[in-house]
Amino acid sequence: MGSGRIVAVYGAYGHTGRFVVAELRERGHVPLLLGRDRDKLLALAQAHPGLETRQASAGDPASLDRALDGAVAVVNCAGPFASTAAPLIEAALRAGIPYVDVAAEIEANLDTFAHFAERAGAAGTVVVPAMAFYGGLGDLLVTTAMGDWTAADEAHIAYGLSSWHPTAGTLASGVVSGRRRGGRRVRYTGGRLEYHDDALPSLEWPFPAPLGSQSVIGEFTMADVVTVPSHLAIPEVRTYMTARAAADLSAPGAPAPAAVDGRGRSAQTFVVDVVVRSGGAERRVAAAGQDIYAISAPLAVEAVDRILTGRTRTTGVASAGAVFDAPDFLRALSPRLSLHVPLGTRG
Ligand SMILES: NC(=O)c1ccc[n+]([C@@H]2O[C@H](COP(=O)([O-])OP(=O)(O)OC[C@H]3O[C@@H](n4cnc5c(N)ncnc54)[C@H](OP(=O)(O)O)[C@@H]3O)[C@@H](O)[C@H]2O)c1
Repeated sequence: MGSGRIVAVYGAYGHTGRFVVAELRERGHVPLLLGRDRDKLLALAQAHPGLETRQASAGDPASLDRALDGAVAVVNCAGPFASTAAPLIEAALRAGIPYVDVAAEIEANLDTFAHFAERAGAAGTVVVPAMAFYGGLGDLLVTTAMGDWTAADEAHIAYGLSSWHPTAGTLASGVVSGRRRGGRRVRYTGGRLEYHDDALPSLEWPFPAPLGSQSVIGEFTMADVVTVPSHLAIPEVRTYMTARAAADLSAPGAPAPAAVDGRGRSAQTFVVDVVVRSGGAERRVAAAGQDIYAISAPLAVEAVDRILTGRTRTTGVASAGAVFDAPDFLRALSPRLSLHVPLGTRG
């Protein structure tokens, strides 16, 4: 549990930011509500009487310094992260506090590793990019499946989403990433990212029961291709997406997520099925839950809790699987995340 310490949330009034604010409160932290729009901050504060709001712009470092004053950590939920990650990390480094974000943008996450690894390490602080459903959960699952393996031939992360009604932030981030890669596709093969124009393969993926076999799009590349290879020697990292969720995402006028329960979660369900292979052996673990945006909050806040209580394995820029005890982290998310380790897959 938190100890009443102040944790800043940038982009606090966004869809994901709201889940993070609620989660921080539930765990006894005091969220500090940050964002670029004063009116939206004040509207959010009405739902959380007593919480402080501070307006700050990514383009104005002094405003960010004022915004972070007194905070012990910052969670960045404002995407596209191509615009917000670097200024917020700079501000966190100036403030000497840890930084966690929920970025799903491959290029933005790569930039975080490339530009800040040295300085965050030298400062002895922790910067955790992609500490959310995409990038974070897959990395924790791959790291858990690896067990005592330090290297593997391949890792497969299959996303079994029942649907995907994207937020404006997801769509905007997709546009920015698409532009950054010149409209090309990306995959991780032969130990490196490869940009290409090949058609994406369609195949069947055998998800664990009750979901069972589903049509998926292969090489539907998510942020796990940054987080997993950042600390595990696996030359092939592939991600897959259920065909119906991929179709939802690209549908013109795709509806935003609609709340169906008291937590504000949508009806969307997910199974993330991970397989790692080394030699002839295979290891597998899966996790299931409800709403990919909502589950990103306990992922990010569990990370903050662990950082603030010294339950970390490294400093500098590090992904979830590198910085935390992955199986223990996943167990801590029960019952909102149910783990499934099939019998007979321990190689
Ligand atoms: N890795 C994952 O699994 C995962 C999970 C959840 C979310 N995300 C990512 O998190 C981001 C937010 O998603 P969301 O669902 O919360 O979307 P959202 O509801 O549309 O919220 C976006 C938030 O970002 C803010 N923002 C955008 N550009 C900004 C900028 N340049 N400066 C300051 N604030 C800015 C918005 O503020 P304004 O309203 O003032 O524009 C708003 O608060 C997206 O990039 C999304 O891909 C990733």
